[in-house]
Amino acid sequence: MKISDAMTSAINDQIKAEFDSAYIYLAMSAYFKDAGLDGMAHWMKKQYSEEIEHAEKFIDYLYERGARVIIPEIAKPKESYADAFEVFKTAYNHEQYVTSRIYKLVDLAIAEKDYATQSMLQWFVNEQMEEEDNTGSIVAKLEFLGSDKHAVYIVDRELAAR
Ligand code: FEO
Repeated sequence: MKISDAMTSAINDQIKAEFDSAYIYLAMSAYFKDAGLDGMAHWMKKQYSEEIEHAEKFIDYLYERGARVIIPEIAKPKESYADAFEVFKTAYNHEQYVTSRIYKLVDLAIAEKDYATQSMLQWFVNEQMEEEDNTGSIVAKLEFLGSDKHAVYIVDRELAAR
């Protein structure tokens, strides 16, 4: 069964969203690097790589379905933040936004009875649960420890292990 134009277009929009996410995290990594927080910079760089993988997963899926992939323009990400807490809170909010986008794709796939796309999207539903949990738990940790330098240093060292 051929993938619909509407589904192809929605997945192409999501490819852009994944590349935009990658850039947001790469900019966060650069912000942390500049602040001397190497562990957080490393964590965000890994997150950047994961988002590129997500974009590629969608690209490969469209190829598999014989659909046209449109390589998107990437939005310029925000460069500066008040502190580490604001960065991770932004990342957490962003992941919730991405989850809502994935759910809309699932809604469309269900409405179109596109079972192949539903099956592919299940991976992303699970991945988003993990992404929200990862960023959310760092926000909770920073909230619990407070944002003095010592607390940020402890979290920075922990995130170096990712
Ligand atoms: Fe690709 Fe972080 O969602």
